[in-house]
Amino acid sequence: MSQSPPVEASRRRTFAIISHPDAGKTTLTENLLLAGGAIRAAGQVRARGENRRTRSDWMKIERERGISVSASVMTFDHEGLMFNLLDTPGHEDFSEDTYRTLTAADAAVMVLDAAKGIEPQTLKLFEVCRLRDIPIVTFINKMDREAQDPIELLDEISSKLALDPAPLFWPAGSGGRFKGMLDLRTQQFLPFAKRTADNKDEGHPKPIAFSGNAVASYLDPDERAELEEGSMLVQEASKPFDPQAFLEGHMTPVFFGSALRHFGIDQLLAGLGTYAPAPKAVAATRSAAETHVVPGDPEVTGFVFKVQANMDPNHRDRIAFLRLCSGRFQRGMKLKVQNTGRQLSVNAPIMFFASDRELAEEAFAGDVIGIPNHGVLRVGDSLSETGLLRFAGLPNFAPEILQRVRVKDPLKAKHLKKALEGLAEEGVTQLFRPQFGADFIVGAVGQLQLEVMADRLANEYQLEVLFEPSPFAEARWLTGKEADTKDFIDKHKTAMATDIDDQPVFLSKSAWELGYVAERYPDLGFQRTRERG
Ligand code: G4P
Repeated sequence: MSQSPPVEASRRRTFAIISHPDAGKTTLTENLLLAGGAIRAAGQVRARGENRRTRSDWMKIERERGISVSASVMTFDHEGLMFNLLDTPGHEDFSEDTYRTLTAADAAVMVLDAAKGIEPQTLKLFEVCRLRDIPIVTFINKMDREAQDPIELLDEISSKLALDPAPLFWPAGSGGRFKGMLDLRTQQFLPFAKRTADNKDEGHPKPIAFSGNAVASYLDPDERAELEEGSMLVQEASKPFDPQAFLEGHMTPVFFGSALRHFGIDQLLAGLGTYAPAPKAVAATRSAAETHVVPGDPEVTGFVFKVQANMDPNHRDRIAFLRLCSGRFQRGMKLKVQNTGRQLSVNAPIMFFASDRELAEEAFAGDVIGIPNHGVLRVGDSLSETGLLRFAGLPNFAPEILQRVRVKDPLKAKHLKKALEGLAEEGVTQLFRPQFGADFIVGAVGQLQLEVMADRLANEYQLEVLFEPSPFAEARWLTGKEADTKDFIDKHKTAMATDIDDQPVFLSKSAWELGYVAERYPDLGFQRTRERG
């Protein structure tokens, strides 16, 4: 039996994992699901991934490149808490997509490879979390391999991220000499079991008191002294863990382990349960007046942070991922889209459990439900029972690549328009319609986005397209008083376009031209991002 909305919301932990490729995000995801009882044997996530890839054409690109392009969510119930794990795409070209996914997360786990520390993509993703004040839990992975000095890893977190690291555990060695770790809060030692000579994984022994004699079976006197000294030193040198500072984004609790060997995972999951925040109040407007939506509010509200097409080729549907912010959602209820006023009956909402999708009978703040629809829902849409609530929009970023796109078969021009609009609504690429000329211009943050687009146009819409250079280098959304913008548009017709929502966009040929024009029109805004919704 479910409880009231505030009680249900308080047991939600909605989080994402961020990492540089290869640090171990997939392995950690798998092992967290294992620790949470969502799957029985490690290996299922990948198997399921393969399965999904063979079912879905456009995932071919994922397989060929060996990267994860799509984002999904997985839900599991563990020790009285409901965990929602959002999967963020790993490749840097998809930072926009990642950014949107992180808007739906209440906390993030930052995975570091113990041998590599903070890598470029870790830093980028961290910055996105900081922009949104998302508290970060650090997991230092691959301790079973030769690692950097853990003190240096903490220094790096502190200097590169300006974040106070607060270790909750301290490792005994690394690589071939990795013996386990000390829980700094309880002074329990957690022994790490190597694989047996015939490469079997027999599980790790139970934690034991560090002060007792039993530790001698795992650590020789030198190793014990080193761990004792190291742990005392680090506790003197670092600030004690302060949950409030963590929630405010100034401090990160640090966990160590080996995702591959399922070591330190139960502790990480328990840490998330104890310290990661339940859903909070979210800023919004109600009929243009500023307000806060509290998870316990009776009205069901939420926002769409991702739209994914063709997850199942048997159903040519799109799934909008709705992050709920308040109320008790029940299957079959009617929700209204704030910006269009359209009402939809949510009869087949989906929740994504590790092994399968299931119809969601009920859901609460913090949960993510998938709503199948035929293009009614867009990224950034706010949904609620009254239709009056609007959450701050999700931004579109100024693209760094602008290309003309043409279809090889001219008879299919109309199809192309529809297909490009569909992909732009999903947020795969941006679409600009110049005032002059029949060509479309697509915008992307990175080259890979265009490849995904071409692949999807070929596989889902049977359209062979050509990309050609466009004369434009920069796109900026135009803002200002109506008369001023109209005057500007009239004078710059050949450089004007509209985006998918019919908003005016100025396309300039160079950064220099953009600067020059912006200086001449000080009353107008040339925006790098635009909030949708
Ligand atoms: P990603 O999603 O962040 O890109 O990383 P992923 O989990 O795919 O892990 C990247 C590689 O690192 C994989 O090896 C994986 O097995 C390994 N790995 C992850 N966690 C650990 C760990 O705790 N210890 C050790 N020793 N290795 C770890 P691979 O050889 O590239 O792939 P695979 O053939 O093992 O699948």
